[in-house]
Amino acid sequence: MELSIKNIEHKNQTKIIQISKRINEIANDLLDCFVNNKLVIPQSLKKTIAVPLLPLVREVYNEFKIRQDKSKLFINFEYPIQELIVSVHPEEFKRSLANIINNAIESFGDEIQGCIEIRLISIHGFIELIIQDNGCGIPAEKLNEIFLEGISINKKNGVGIGLSYVKNVVKSWGADYKITSQVEKGTEFKYVFENKARVNT
Ligand SMILES: Nc1ncnc2c1ncn2[C@@H]1O[C@H](COP(=O)(O)OP(=O)(O)OP(=O)(O)O)[C@@H](O)[C@H]1O
Ligand SMILES: [Mg+2]
Repeated sequence: MELSIKNIEHKNQTKIIQISKRINEIANDLLDCFVNNKLVIPQSLKKTIAVPLLPLVREVYNEFKIRQDKSKLFINFEYPIQELIVSVHPEEFKRSLANIINNAIESFGDEIQGCIEIRLISIHGFIELIIQDNGCGIPAEKLNEIFLEGISINKKNGVGIGLSYVKNVVKSWGADYKITSQVEKGTEFKYVFENKARVNT
């Protein structure tokens, strides 16, 4: 079957072109990070600034949300009213979040109605960003292994750099992460940031 962009409504054409460009950018940036077959994050990408987290998460969420209508994917986003300021490299943050959401999407077999819940929570000066899926899950004994470079499990085209990249950038911001998973139930990835907003709860 041949798919032609000409048959797609104009506003969707523009969106698809924007998204394709971004996917291309992500792929090129990641390729640039490979030096002698090793993932090396350049110093320029380690620069962090204090930015509101909500618009960054919303931007990535919106990119995936438009796919929802064309697939079995259901994706939802909840956030609080508090000001949430984090110290990150904004582009790196969006790229890392896209990696986590892609992993969630790839965890759904054909028979599952794939659901992804994204939640931002503000607690005692910290911010948790949770990405939860109801996919195939990860066996307990593999949970440490998956953050190593080049480890891809049960994926046809997996390269195994997604999580190793996420681990590196999260560390470079001085933030933290946690993954919990249950086979056949799903996986939860959590970012933990210090909230840099002046007044926070
Ligand atoms: N949400 C998830 N649900 C189930 N398995 C997961 C999830 N996230 C990660 N994994 C497992 O961890 C492995 C490593 O993930 P990682 O993102 O590093 O590599 P990858 O997705 O295989 O390849 P790529 O480099 O294209 O991202 C995956 O192959 C998969 O088996
Ligand atoms: Mg991946």
